[in-house]
Amino acid sequence: MKHVLAFCLLAISFRLSSAIKLPQNPDPQPLKWWQSDIIYQIYPRSHQDSDGDGVGDLKGIESRLDHFVELGIGSVWISPIYQSPMKDFGYDISNFTNIEPTFGTLDDFRSLSDAMKERGLKLIMDFVPNHSSDMHAWFNKSIHSEGKYKDYYVWKDPKGYDAEGNPIPPANWVNHFGGSSFEWNEIRQQFYLHQFVKEQPDLNYENPEVMKEMLAAMKFWLDAGVDGFRMDAVQTLFEDQRFLDEPVNPDRPANSIPSDHKYWKHIYTINQPKVIDALVEFRKLIDIYTLADGKERCMMTEAYLDTLEELLPYYGTKENPAAHFPFNFDLIVYANGSSGATTFANIIDEWYLKKPEGATVNWLVGNHDNFRIGSRYGEDAIDKMNMLIMLLPGSVVTYYGEEIGMVDNVISWEDTVDPWGCNAGPDRYSLFSRDPERCPMQWSAEDNAGFSTANKTWLPVHPNHKQLNVEAQKNTTGESHLKVYKRLSDLRKTEAWQFGGLEAKTTNDGEIYGYSRIFNNQGFLFLGSFSNQTVTVNATQEFEGIPSTATVYTTNVGFEPETAIGSSISTSSIVVGAKHSIIVAF
Ligand code: NOJ
Ligand code: MG
Repeated sequence: MKHVLAFCLLAISFRLSSAIKLPQNPDPQPLKWWQSDIIYQIYPRSHQDSDGDGVGDLKGIESRLDHFVELGIGSVWISPIYQSPMKDFGYDISNFTNIEPTFGTLDDFRSLSDAMKERGLKLIMDFVPNHSSDMHAWFNKSIHSEGKYKDYYVWKDPKGYDAEGNPIPPANWVNHFGGSSFEWNEIRQQFYLHQFVKEQPDLNYENPEVMKEMLAAMKFWLDAGVDGFRMDAVQTLFEDQRFLDEPVNPDRPANSIPSDHKYWKHIYTINQPKVIDALVEFRKLIDIYTLADGKERCMMTEAYLDTLEELLPYYGTKENPAAHFPFNFDLIVYANGSSGATTFANIIDEWYLKKPEGATVNWLVGNHDNFRIGSRYGEDAIDKMNMLIMLLPGSVVTYYGEEIGMVDNVISWEDTVDPWGCNAGPDRYSLFSRDPERCPMQWSAEDNAGFSTANKTWLPVHPNHKQLNVEAQKNTTGESHLKVYKRLSDLRKTEAWQFGGLEAKTTNDGEIYGYSRIFNNQGFLFLGSFSNQTVTVNATQEFEGIPSTATVYTTNVGFEPETAIGSSISTSSIVVGAKHSIIVAF
């Protein structure tokens, strides 16, 4: 999650130069939708507000569906829209089978789902299996030890009592948002576990009833016609039942303090062996639906783990598949604006070299828990990062607003609402708060960027929306991030992208990262510069199968030297300005 572990850079073995080759697909079969379609993440509070309360809603999303169609985006993952007291903005669910009134009703959901189907768009729900809200009816029943609900949550006696008679938590475990993972309950006279905020009690997966309950909730949405799930925080599903203290993390960030999650090494609370079994269970249900009607459904899982070796088992096995793909956060965790081409190359190589046979790799560079592309890699890297991830073999996810290059908003302490920021207090909130990347979508230059008619939106609209918005980028006669993005989306539909081989490498002494995708002599070449100077790439020499001339398919906005889209260039001397990027087709 946020500011994840710059120190993990060490975990990747660095090489000074890098190259990888994958052959073209010898038996081209149509890809599954979740492999080929862009998966676009909507943060529903910030997408489109239809009723003027300053918070986005389902009717709002429905009114904006044509944006996806125009961009060739095939599937949409919506962050949680279930009933929620909004302590973690929807990730605290008080009813897993109903819609939060702020977002609308079940009828609104059906209407949205129908409208998406009409347009051929897939709908992916964000499912949160690890915890509920403390306002869920189950939790109240569990507090009162009612019948089967007694052990729905993780309850534990105190370790003892301090000198003042206060109960001492069973272990030193610290939750993701800061502070103890245990909260005392006066009625039950026990602690309960919460790996996130205290209003998000962890469900007890040691109790088979809990799994049944969650499968029933997933079934509800599958019956309602959803095409898949993004499974939240699955690394936290199980805890070691000995409730032993966790050790200090030897690689903790320098500025971390004992109440920070990253201060500790989470050997008892994260990625316990039974996680995979639970994923296999979830997947079985999804596959039953796919087998029944032949319509492919998909499950993507969220887990930030220290190494790729720990994450790869989340794919499951051939006999017991788990995730269709576990999110790949490596470009977020291990790379930033000062990373060179070799860092990117190493991360990318590692996935293709280590992934299980037949597994689909996936690429993403942003989400609602991490700073935006422009703020993390630099505004001059927005198009380059979109190019880099969208044309590699594998699934791809775009966080809303990245198609136009939205950047983080500056949020004052007074305007801060993210519990992670709030818990950290006024001096440290900006280290943790996820509000900057969650601000309203910038549709137009109107007030509130066309997002809402409210006097005040739930998070402030970025002041740059006057210039930076969908409408402006669509209508300009010049270049725009949106136009570049649309070209990338189109390229994913070509045979070269779907079935082409991959040759990826650094060139020019590690200043350029590039790759070709070629299918039966047709294809394209991407070159991204990480240099501070203009460099000339001899692509015919560096890459196999590149003809001597090629057509400029797209460049980043403001590419230097000025190069017209559609013009023909010599591939033995492609000039790329500092930090710029280009795709040529042949
Ligand atoms: C991961 C989600 O992405 C994040 O936004 C949320 O706060 C936690 N899981 C808890 O559900
Ligand atoms: Mg748990």
